[in-house]
Amino acid sequence: MSLPLFFILILTTFSFLLSPAPTAATARTPQTQKQSDTPTPAPWPEQFHALLFMNYSNSLSMIDLWYDWPRGRNFNIIHDQLAHGGPPLFNLEWNNGTSFFYTLQEPLRCRSAQLDVGVLRPNWLDGATYLGRAHVNGFLCDAWTKADFIWYYQDVESSRPVKWVFYTGRTAHVMTFEVGAVLDDAAWQAPVYCFHKNDTDTTKEEQPQKSDNALTINHNRLIQHKKKEHHAHKLSTFLINQL
Ligand SMILES: *[C@@H]1O[C@H](CO)[C@@H](O)[C@H](O)[C@H]1NC(C)=O
Ligand SMILES: *[C@@H]1O[C@H](CO)[C@@H](O)[C@H](O)[C@H]1NC(C)=O
Ligand SMILES: *[C@@H]1O[C@H](CO)[C@@H](O)[C@H](O)[C@H]1NC(C)=O
Repeated sequence: MSLPLFFILILTTFSFLLSPAPTAATARTPQTQKQSDTPTPAPWPEQFHALLFMNYSNSLSMIDLWYDWPRGRNFNIIHDQLAHGGPPLFNLEWNNGTSFFYTLQEPLRCRSAQLDVGVLRPNWLDGATYLGRAHVNGFLCDAWTKADFIWYYQDVESSRPVKWVFYTGRTAHVMTFEVGAVLDDAAWQAPVYCFHKNDTDTTKEEQPQKSDNALTINHNRLIQHKKKEHHAHKLSTFLINQL
């Protein structure tokens, strides 16, 4: 190999390795933003209702998701297949970090948690890493991953989410997505037994739980997700600050 060719190869290799850096630098300048053709995830609408079909290691459930960012609240109403885990579970999250997990049918239960993270922000996917395109459930999707926490698939045509997969393998298939739908205020009221000081099921922070009921499992899973999500957010902020 001749010496000049050797240098050209070296230079090509380096400019390939360094190519993300100029992209990051140009992203700061609004005029040059159009040069970047890496798709970014659509922010979540400020309010929506989605019906999610969930699969967690063959354990299936439907979740009614009511996302309401302006009012600082998020609701997951979880129906296990054929009520395997008992009555529907209501998971109500407030932006002040308080989460409630309860049933409205026998057996009446309520658990609460205080976390240092609130409801997901509409732009929570900012900074996600683009993975390319894939066919998912019959839709051509753009795919991203964020901080080893979530893999997210969005319909190329409509920009609606089609599917997401948590790092645990828990998968959500988005069956309906009604932008602007809002659940009545009355439905957001946690039942009175969530506020009884003598309720032994009410815990302040996560505690190792021995019971294997669905309420506890979902409660602990939520806390794990929240912690990881918090970590993911910190990580992305950290990376953004490095640019
Ligand atoms: C649920 O996920 C498992 C993999 O964890 C897969 O084998 C199974 O086919 C899925 N079931 C449905 C109904 O999607
Ligand atoms: C957070 O807000 C909810 C709903 O208003 C309320 O029930 C809960 O007590 C609040 N938590 C804290 C720690 O203030
Ligand atoms: C908890 O207190 C409420 C009233 O404050 C009472 O009605 C209920 O019976 C109590 N529950 C237990 C398990 O002591």
